[in-house]
Amino acid sequence: MRRGFAVVGLVLCLQACAITPPTGTVTPRAPATTAASPTSTATPTRSAEDGFTASGDVPAVLDPELLDGIVTTVDSRSEFARRIFANWPQFGLPLVDEAVSTHYSDTIRDFERDYPVGTQPTAAPELNLGWHVLAGSPSVVGFASDGYEFGGASGARSWRSFWFDPRSGALYSAADLLDRNAARTALATAALTRSGVDLAQAGADPLGAAPLLAFSPSGDLLVGFDQCQVAACAEGRVSLTIPRGQADTLLTATGRAARDASIHPSAPPAVAPTASPTPTGPTTSATPDPSATTPKPPAKVNCRKATCIALTFDDGPGPHTQKLLGHLRRAGVHATFFMLGSQVEAYPKVASAVAAAGNEIGVHTWDHRDLTRLTPSQIDREIGSTVRIIRKDAGVSPRLLRPPYGAMNAHVHAAARRAGLALALWDVDTLDWKTRSTKKTVAAAVRGARRGSIILVHDIHPTTVAAVPAIIRKLRAKGYTFVTVSQLLGRTKPGQKYFHG
Ligand code: NI
Repeated sequence: MRRGFAVVGLVLCLQACAITPPTGTVTPRAPATTAASPTSTATPTRSAEDGFTASGDVPAVLDPELLDGIVTTVDSRSEFARRIFANWPQFGLPLVDEAVSTHYSDTIRDFERDYPVGTQPTAAPELNLGWHVLAGSPSVVGFASDGYEFGGASGARSWRSFWFDPRSGALYSAADLLDRNAARTALATAALTRSGVDLAQAGADPLGAAPLLAFSPSGDLLVGFDQCQVAACAEGRVSLTIPRGQADTLLTATGRAARDASIHPSAPPAVAPTASPTPTGPTTSATPDPSATTPKPPAKVNCRKATCIALTFDDGPGPHTQKLLGHLRRAGVHATFFMLGSQVEAYPKVASAVAAAGNEIGVHTWDHRDLTRLTPSQIDREIGSTVRIIRKDAGVSPRLLRPPYGAMNAHVHAAARRAGLALALWDVDTLDWKTRSTKKTVAAAVRGARRGSIILVHDIHPTTVAAVPAIIRKLRAKGYTFVTVSQLLGRTKPGQKYFHG
């Protein structure tokens, strides 16, 4: 039974899509390739390590599996040390998708404008945008963006909530959720109890300026502000709490439904039932079959004799990964997938199918942060949470870590060593994320290949997935044998970095 949001395949954001929103109306909608047949009811609340950070209470964050079949758009770029990664959900609801795409696209555009290529300060600017599910029920869904922006001196965090009706596809405004006059008074009172918070910094209407309305796990109403918006920047994001009893008197019926959907979530209805799954081959029938999660080991290859080469796919799994698995299966090739924990969480069945087909899975961190900007314990969390979800959903234990942007320092090496992972980089960068051209991606992969090469591509781009059959054909014609990175490297040392075999 399909529940929640039908999969409307995706969409990938061409370079221009970050500049020309919305994606919802202009993007091709590939058929879903994952049969949505949840095997369990969603376990709502996720571990805090993958949720929000703020001074004050943080919103309840739910497992995205609640919105089964949700489709994510990923836009990842690294140009001249300007690093951008954005990942956002699409629901198959035009108004909602347009508002969401516009928010993310505008944020990327503003960042690119603020930090034009060639004028960077000494440290690389970084924009990282993710998302969390706040609430789900048959009548209301909430989610929030989760943003980090580093401008070369210090980082700033932001967030923004979106509430909508999954039946009609209408967005809810703050006025739909609460009595704004009463809420303004309650907000002012809440601010009085917090030292260092000055609501006047947010302008004449702080409630209207607050980017986040959400609920704590115990049902308190949270009004959230961006870093530096109402307090010293060192405070981080700030949320003010209006206790549940008081909030009851200000919430509308919709607002109370939003609160209930936060603390007692249930699956929303299917909203785009036209997206019927179209399996592309045996490996794409995605209902996890316990026996299918036992990975078949790839055929033994002696890379001392054979001219070995490894194809690696970063930033997935995503809506095009199943199609890619079909290409690999037909060619009899095993590849290595450096997965994001957040994407595995959104596409658990695809992650399982990748492993079941005998491919290798490595760690690309939870949400694609530049690890050199994080503390050792934050790096450990990025790696550990991703290792855990890969083990849980794909049933394999990764041996390799590929740090986002290839960014490494001594802390990253040490964390990789602690986690028992070797650092797997690459020596052939196809720049597929930039060209979004199947032809250029094929040409770059073939031109750059040497014995022992590790080729970097991304399975989040349909243009890249379309390039794979030709890459395999042309490199095989030159005598190359495709292997996984672990096959290519043989014995590896945790914490050590490898660019090729
Ligand atoms: Ni990446």
